[in-house]
Amino acid sequence: MSISPHGSLRSHGTGTLRAEHADETVTLAGWVDTRRDHGGVAFLDLRDRSGIVQVVADPEASEALEAAHRVRPEWVIEVTGTVRVRPEGMRNDRLPTGDVEVAATSIRVLSVAQTTPFPIEDGIDVSEELRLTHRYVDLRRPRLARNLQVRAQVTSVIRRVMERNGFIDVETPVLTRPTPEGARDFLVPSRLQPGTSYALPQSPQLFKQLLMVAGVERYYQIARCFRDENLRADRQPEFTQLDLELSFGDEEDVYGLMEELFAEIWREVLDEELPVPFPRLTYAESMRRFGTDKPDLRYAMELADLGSVFAETQVGVFKGVLEGGGSVVALALPDGGRLTRREFDDWTEWAKRRGAKGLAWGVVEEPTEGAAGAATLRSPLTKFMSDEEVAGVIAATGADVGDAIFFGAGRTSFAFQLMGALRVALADEQGLVGTHDDGSPRWEFVWIVEPPMFDPAEESDDPTAATAEGWVPNHHPFTAPAPEFVDDFEQRPGEATTRAYDIVLNGTELASGSVRIHDADLQRRVFRFLGVSDADAEEKFGFLLRGFSYGVPPHCGIAPGLDRIVMLITGEDSIREVIAFPKTQSGSDPMTDAPAPYEASVLDELGLRPAPRPKA
Ligand code: AMO
Ligand code: AMP
Repeated sequence: MSISPHGSLRSHGTGTLRAEHADETVTLAGWVDTRRDHGGVAFLDLRDRSGIVQVVADPEASEALEAAHRVRPEWVIEVTGTVRVRPEGMRNDRLPTGDVEVAATSIRVLSVAQTTPFPIEDGIDVSEELRLTHRYVDLRRPRLARNLQVRAQVTSVIRRVMERNGFIDVETPVLTRPTPEGARDFLVPSRLQPGTSYALPQSPQLFKQLLMVAGVERYYQIARCFRDENLRADRQPEFTQLDLELSFGDEEDVYGLMEELFAEIWREVLDEELPVPFPRLTYAESMRRFGTDKPDLRYAMELADLGSVFAETQVGVFKGVLEGGGSVVALALPDGGRLTRREFDDWTEWAKRRGAKGLAWGVVEEPTEGAAGAATLRSPLTKFMSDEEVAGVIAATGADVGDAIFFGAGRTSFAFQLMGALRVALADEQGLVGTHDDGSPRWEFVWIVEPPMFDPAEESDDPTAATAEGWVPNHHPFTAPAPEFVDDFEQRPGEATTRAYDIVLNGTELASGSVRIHDADLQRRVFRFLGVSDADAEEKFGFLLRGFSYGVPPHCGIAPGLDRIVMLITGEDSIREVIAFPKTQSGSDPMTDAPAPYEASVLDELGLRPAPRPKA
């Protein structure tokens, strides 16, 4: 026997009543949303998870009316009454239940409520601190309630698609050894073995690879991950991944599976058909065209490398940078001629705050009378530019008359990244982020493939600084090098690429994964190159390397971030809006007051000494 859909204390959900229920006697229960008391008659809007319905108490049921006078917003009440169709002219088109109301015969108070710290409404201005302190109240607001439902819908589609494709759900430990994903670990001191600690997993990476050694072949898990890093709108110290791994397959299996999954999520949640397959862009091309490995493809404004245009230039800043081996990068802002001098200066300041020496600009204008028909550039720098250079700049950026062109010059990677960031900031500020004709969001998914194997350990912003020595993995050290670099990546670490891939949606990285190394010797070489000695590798990852010595299948996998998927699909700006109980930017939870100070007795047991607490 299955349970009553609304719980046995109720006959219907408040949001489910329609004209077809007219004359039925119903028992409802929920929260008082609003109350309009006219003395002789009182109206209550009663709310539960399914929606809101209007309840009327009039003198014919005097006890119910008396109770309706007493109740206040957010009290929990039970209402018994008769559904009736509202008179013409009294209907409420904004409520799905707006054709009916419930004439109360009895109202029973189940629990009273204090005045809530903020109203249960969307679009109100409340501090995040207050919202998180009373998150149970915050979550009653329609937008957040919907976000939780969408999140559950997404996990439900995930399970369906993964199971359909033969993946099995396996749990991996939360008390474990460090997993290298580039963040700090959260440690959990051990009582039974004082002086030692577990680490919380930054991801289940090592365990999922060992599950492939174990012959599981297709694993998935909706896994909590923990990373002690600086928090941003799209980062929380604990977050959730759809983590998965498969054996005897390659990139194409992962691409196909993810496209099937995302298409099904979008179909189910938004009733939209995503175009698949997603386009693929190499990392190098993405950096060249967009100055980032997370390109937002909802707008154009591609970057232009002006090295050849300015090869012989007399423009001092460009000449110096190009002679020093750097780059001059430009982009055209459609209709940017509208910007005032002051606004151009503000963008220059914006660039300087990011470490640039300056930001040059110009506006494309109609050819001057008598000139041979070529557009000109109005710019503080024009007097130093030859006609060929002006024509070259306009051609390379694809600018039209009326557009503005911005120029950034500096160390190559810095100049591209700066202009990539400018592209995003300009699009945002100038409202160029494209939507569909009906105003609904566009979804520009893209695979970013063939990333570098390593990044310089320290990227310096000084254009004159030599590239720092020391390399860190661009993804993680278990990622397979591209075949042509397997033999000699050590000799050309700056060139080597890997078989890793990311999914980027509208400029946000949604997922990351790779084909893995499945050869213990190659894995040891990668560790050695990263400065991990054989002894250290044995100490930290010996269990993985030993596993690999017992027969390891070729395997690959990926991990989409669940919080980010739900954030984008619900149109939220922060993953905090799609997590039931998130942490603040400083990593605390104002509701439970976590993290809390240690108690001395606990420290003794754990063999730890208290550190002096920094003064607030
Ligand atoms: P990676 O570290 O790139 O890869 O993480 C994969 C995805 O997890 C999400 N994510 C986060 N979401 C919220 N808050 C965070 N602090 C956070 N950090 C990461 C992102 C990201 O794309 N083990 C590998 C995956 C693999 O190789 O299979 C891994 O964890 O959406
Ligand atoms: P300056 O020679 O410093 O007076 O700069 C002349 C113009 O070039 C100003 O508009 C600066 O903002 C700009 N500029 C200076 N350095 C750079 C640079 N590295 N990249 C782009 N523009 C620059």
